[in-house]
Amino acid sequence: MRPVIDPDITRAATLPGAFYCDPGVLARQRERVFARAWHLGADVRQLEAPGACVPAVLGEEPVVFTRDASGALHCVSNVCTHRANLVVNAPCNVPSLRCRYHGRRFGLDGRFHSMPEFEAARDFPSDADHLPPVAFGQLGPLLFASAAPAFALDELLAPVRARVGWLDLAAMQRDPAGDRDYQVAANWALYCDNYLEGFHIPFVHPALSGALDYGAYQTELHPFGTLQLGVAADGEDAFERLDAGRRIAAYYFWLFPSTMLNFYPWGLSVNVVEPLAVDRTRVRYQTWVLDAARRTTGAGAALDRVEVEDEEVVERVQQGVRSRLYRTGRYSPTRETGVHHFHRLLTHFLE
Ligand code: FES
Ligand SMILES: [Fe+2]
Repeated sequence: MRPVIDPDITRAATLPGAFYCDPGVLARQRERVFARAWHLGADVRQLEAPGACVPAVLGEEPVVFTRDASGALHCVSNVCTHRANLVVNAPCNVPSLRCRYHGRRFGLDGRFHSMPEFEAARDFPSDADHLPPVAFGQLGPLLFASAAPAFALDELLAPVRARVGWLDLAAMQRDPAGDRDYQVAANWALYCDNYLEGFHIPFVHPALSGALDYGAYQTELHPFGTLQLGVAADGEDAFERLDAGRRIAAYYFWLFPSTMLNFYPWGLSVNVVEPLAVDRTRVRYQTWVLDAARRTTGAGAALDRVEVEDEEVVERVQQGVRSRLYRTGRYSPTRETGVHHFHRLLTHFLE
């Protein structure tokens, strides 16, 4: 299935329902979208000491971040070049990497060091025996990586830096007590569709609706993402710094395809959306605190309730897209520019 989305939102039809139900589409998305995307990998504070190693999975690609003895940071494949065992299984601090299957050793930069029982092997070792390097970069303490990036990380992060770069991102403290792992019985792209519009807020989120000025809510489109500006309702908590004269309660950044950075006056809530099956999705929440005293104020309060409200509607939509009586819908030209942009990017990457 190769749907095409009209670039003119006033004419365009939405993605067909079958797009969200077809395992073949998901397999293609894994290959064409997730494998070429930037993924949130690790917290740089876990990698402060020389010898620190933190494994991560980028979509489906196992990698490991390391800090070598000289202080340099690396990201390399976590798949042993011998017979593909995973080299590092949990965060650790080690002088070098050793695969626990047959003892192959690598430097913390991924370079092959040694291997028992290979004295007679010809043309060994070769460049193919190093752990391949993986591209990575940083936003505050967040490390992003990609095994085969389709575009530069700076292109993805420039709008974030331009808008909230004045926040002391490096001072954000991870709060594991705020972590959540949600399982949603819906396609990952339906979860993103829902995230990408504020249209549903007055209908689905009555409490959140009171914290935001719906009339002033805005969506901006970026090459590989969107920003939704939640303008604070009168008397609701907002950032100290005005944004073009507006009091902002929340900056909702979506980074193609499936990472959301939600900045509130108290800090940052990160959502990572992972497809598990065509109709099953995991959403991981990570919390980074800047000003704990404001945690329960404004649009960034009661995020658990907002999540449950979103899940309920998205799971019902998953039932709806299976209908034989539904084919496609239409976009609101004023309120669904973000969804339209997402569908355009997605179909473009699947071409
Ligand atoms: S798979 Fe790593 S040493 Fe054999
Ligand atoms: Fe929502």
